[in-house]
Amino acid sequence: MSNDSAIGIHDLSFATTEFVLPHTELAEHNGTEIGKYHVGIGQRSMSVPAADEDIVTMAAAAAAPLIARHGADLIRTVVLATESSIDQAKAAGVYVHSLLGLPSATRVVELKQACYGATAALQFAIGLVRRDPAQRVLVIASDVSKYELDSPGEATQGAAAVAMLVGADPALVRIEEPSGLFTADVMDFWRPNYREAALVDGQESIAAYLQAVEGSWKDYGEQGGRPLEEFAALCYHQPFTKMAYKAHRHLLNYCGYDPDKDAVERAIGRTTSYNTVIGNSYTASVYLGLASVLDQADDLTGRPVGFLSYGSGSVAEFFAGTVVPGYREHLRTAAHNEAVDRRRPLGYAEYRELHERSFPTDGGDHPTPSQTTGPFRLAGLSGHKRIYEKR
Ligand code: CAA
Repeated sequence: MSNDSAIGIHDLSFATTEFVLPHTELAEHNGTEIGKYHVGIGQRSMSVPAADEDIVTMAAAAAAPLIARHGADLIRTVVLATESSIDQAKAAGVYVHSLLGLPSATRVVELKQACYGATAALQFAIGLVRRDPAQRVLVIASDVSKYELDSPGEATQGAAAVAMLVGADPALVRIEEPSGLFTADVMDFWRPNYREAALVDGQESIAAYLQAVEGSWKDYGEQGGRPLEEFAALCYHQPFTKMAYKAHRHLLNYCGYDPDKDAVERAIGRTTSYNTVIGNSYTASVYLGLASVLDQADDLTGRPVGFLSYGSGSVAEFFAGTVVPGYREHLRTAAHNEAVDRRRPLGYAEYRELHERSFPTDGGDHPTPSQTTGPFRLAGLSGHKRIYEKR
């Protein structure tokens, strides 16, 4: 893609929750050897939402710094991708639009395909900007990953939102064509409308993910994509950080390379620093991988980064982006570290209590306890309506 038609990620900001549960705390209470969490799945802690936080408060908190820096004048579309939707009809992005005070001349929509949704949002945003390069699109990925207590998935929970401003002549990453695509109808992870926690077949989900890596990479090659050795780093969807390592070893094998430990570490190591302490943030996770590699890595100017976005069910996409000269001046590394470090540790009993909370469905007034110290809060449910507040 030539520079004059470059479209991509102009700015990126993430937010996470008020609370954090260290895996040491979980292991102490469920009897798991801590090595299984720290080494086996590669997770140190998980973000846990306060009673007055949800995908809307996280999404608004992630996007507010973008609006503060760039204004809202050029934004005519907001696309919010989520697996953990709060309403069957109304798009969560409409609440975010209101909390951020965006102009009424905006289209707002919600996208869903498990952990893949944000990549569809990014690609759709690029299409809109290509049609009118003067416009920018606010893409937000926001998710709370919730599995049953005491289930194998419990240790992989987490929550975060990533907001990206997509536009022409981007300051961070130019997104390239082509994309490699893959869809297969599998029941590896799903959540029927009547359930709060996801259902999952853990081992099948890993196999389905690896099959999707192969399928999307194969199509990427057939569409004329870059050879694997060109990539400075690979941002994989990270349901737990060890999955990125498994996926990359699988891809190296598939391409006929030796999955040498150092080569895998070079490609993946710098992409996991946020996911390992936040946990699974579903559709936000691959873009937390991007935030990590941009924030932590040595200079990546002009280097291609690969993205493998996987959403159970399943849809996957492999694509590339090139890091733009001068990108480091636009990073939000200090704010990102602060979002992670400011979380308050929970005890095991408090975590379980928060996990089991849900709103009564009687249509009454149900205020939430004031817990979050973040910029937005879910004040309660009243007459079946969610009430949000800017603090
Ligand atoms: N020290 C070091 N390593 C240890 C250990 C110890 N003491 N004990 C166990 N391990 C290792 C195991 O050897 C294993 O490693 P390998 O996979 O490399 O063999 C790893 O720890 C995990 O152990 P198990 O497979 O026994 O763990 P489990 O049965 O409890 O389940 C899981 C693991 C399937 C990932 C489960 O956490 C789960 O169901 N998670 C949710 C589903 C999921 O994340 N799937 C990923 C693909 S689907 C997707 O990506 C979409 C999405 O976001 C959900």
